[in-house]
Amino acid sequence: MSAEYEKLRQCYESIRRQTDFQPKLAVVLGSGLGEFAETIRVVDTVEYSAIEGFPTSTVQGHRGRFVFGYVGAVPVVIMQGRVHYYEGYAMTDVVLPIRLMKMLGAEILMVTNASGGINEQFQAGDLMLITDQIATWIPSPLRGENLEELGTRFPDMTEAYDKELRAIVTRTANRLEIPIQKGVYIQFAGPQFETPAEIRMARAVGADAVGMSTACEVIAARHMGMRVCGISCVANMAAGMTGKPLLHEEVQQYADAAAPRFQKLLTASIQEIARSIH
Ligand code: HPA
Repeated sequence: MSAEYEKLRQCYESIRRQTDFQPKLAVVLGSGLGEFAETIRVVDTVEYSAIEGFPTSTVQGHRGRFVFGYVGAVPVVIMQGRVHYYEGYAMTDVVLPIRLMKMLGAEILMVTNASGGINEQFQAGDLMLITDQIATWIPSPLRGENLEELGTRFPDMTEAYDKELRAIVTRTANRLEIPIQKGVYIQFAGPQFETPAEIRMARAVGADAVGMSTACEVIAARHMGMRVCGISCVANMAAGMTGKPLLHEEVQQYADAAAPRFQKLLTASIQEIARSIH
């Protein structure tokens, strides 16, 4: 057994000593969405710091936890606080929680994030259904020895974001009369915001929104055969598009302002996915 897989097993067993909850669906909460975890019927919580072997960064102490509970009748596990590559973690550690949620039983992954809008038709505050992604400029979480226990060496990424799940979110947004854009998400390593030249490059290669998370998580999820769905909150227009510098605080404010709409769509989409899948 590889050291990497052994670490995963150790974390898994540590969680299993704390809860026997069996989630069907995993949710990763992005900026401004943390409160969503408090809107569900919570059964158990497990702090990341209470998981034996869970990666700890020298840069920043561990904040965050898994929340187990129900959205309607759907058993879910929620990552409240995600792990970012720019914090200094190895890519394999960044995706470790995703792998754990699959090992705990989740077959479907719902990823959310805040992003910068690259598509000129977008506006700050828009929600965007992620249709595909570009992870070309970040290291792959699958680099190194393949973990055969998890998946194949060369996983297919043709339909990284599940077509049926995308249709369900679109239908749900329409029913709730919540406007939703569609587009390609590009991940950069960060933590600096992009330059205007990088944004022009990203637009030229077909990206509609940019962020510092998610794509690596989706690679790990697809490696393990999870079905993935992603929604992004376009918190600001990307660098060079408004003539003003980007401030984290302003980005955060827009993400927070869109949160109630985002949460409503998330809750309804999860319930709809559960109804449609079985
Ligand atoms: N760039 C990168 N990540 C982001 C942005 C951005 O403009 N906005 C929110 N997350």
